[in-house]
Amino acid sequence: MTSYLLRDVRPYGEAAVDVRLVDGRIAEIGTGLGDGDGRVLDGAGAVLLPGLVDLHTHLREPGREDAETVETGTLAAALGGFTAVHAMANTDPVADTAGVVEQVWRLGREAGHCDVAPVGAVTVGLGGEQMAELGTMADSAARVRVFSDDGHCVSDASLMRRALEYVKAFDGVIAQHAQEPRLTVGAQMNEGVTSSMLGLTGWPAVAEEAIIARDCLLAAHVDSRLHVCHVSTAGSVELLRWAKGKGWNVTAEVTPHHLLLTDDLARSYDPVFKVNPPLRSQTDVDALREGLADGTIDCVATDHAPHALEDKEAEWGAALPGMTGLETALGIVALTMVETGRLTWRQVAERMSSTPARIGRLDDGPQPQGRPIAVGEPANLCLVDPASTWTVDPRATASRSRNTPFAGRELPARVVATFLRGRPTVLDGKPA
Ligand code: DOR
Repeated sequence: MTSYLLRDVRPYGEAAVDVRLVDGRIAEIGTGLGDGDGRVLDGAGAVLLPGLVDLHTHLREPGREDAETVETGTLAAALGGFTAVHAMANTDPVADTAGVVEQVWRLGREAGHCDVAPVGAVTVGLGGEQMAELGTMADSAARVRVFSDDGHCVSDASLMRRALEYVKAFDGVIAQHAQEPRLTVGAQMNEGVTSSMLGLTGWPAVAEEAIIARDCLLAAHVDSRLHVCHVSTAGSVELLRWAKGKGWNVTAEVTPHHLLLTDDLARSYDPVFKVNPPLRSQTDVDALREGLADGTIDCVATDHAPHALEDKEAEWGAALPGMTGLETALGIVALTMVETGRLTWRQVAERMSSTPARIGRLDDGPQPQGRPIAVGEPANLCLVDPASTWTVDPRATASRSRNTPFAGRELPARVVATFLRGRPTVLDGKPA
């Protein structure tokens, strides 16, 4: 029997209690619990949250193990408080068959730092032309429920419609990277004053919004589930509000970097700030924060996109888009949403654990994620010290890549410990 007593912790940031974990489950919650015969951990009033769930992680394996592996990426996830991540399909080979998704799923189990739910590609080789074998990926050991060509938009409306119809058979969801390709040929950054000044080709908001509007209509037409990846503009928030108002089955995510950073940072020409969709304006940032607060945007997802040095430390035009984000996600959310009074810790738990788990259908089955902190539930937990600040150091990351845009920033909400089914993956802020 393995047992832990978490003394003086505040579930969802509320009243302090003791929580006992026995054999992978929450066995007891109360005040003044006896030490028992397991290990005792003094929480000193830290916030206890359900283990975080990421809907959008790039683990780069197979194919780019020089940038990240399942082992290094999931360790970074655990250090960030995550107990489950969805691994995006743009690997090499692409995760468009049962064989590849099962490989990624097995690597996740072997690493053991957090659960890995592979995302299946919507189209063969992310080519946007031929639908991949979604059904065999759904039936595989990986039990794929989220399908995405992320990095590429499923721009063919007829193919998107058929994919939305197809995943209904197994309660799947299409996670769309909303980027109209003809409107973004050669795009390098947000289209606006700064792109004109810098002479970089712009990526206009309408290229995202046009696809979101189309896909909401398609999802409604075939009565299926659509999830919108990394929403980045104020107009997108408005469209989602409209679609939800109609009662359509549409969900959306926002990244931590879009909640904090703006396209002003491109003035440095430092490609660490190059990402797709690009950093936008302060008006967009404000609308995204409001959308996340009022539930128009359902959840936060990291879009953790590690890149090898030679792919990132190039001139702006040649550098690959993407930022790491697993270890900083909770700190950025605390900074932008909790410290500003927009979200309570309970709402953070919804937006970073229970809701993403439900969208990915990880919330039931033999090893569910995103469950509440309650007796009998699996002990997937993270312990966060809201007052303890830390400075982001790209060299100190567990990720194999260092392309964080937050280097040198002081962030609140240090993750003290993470538990995966009662077993610590992180203790004292370090790998257990
Ligand atoms: O910036 C990005 N990087 N956006 C994407 O959609 C893909 C991702 C990647 O794979 O690097």
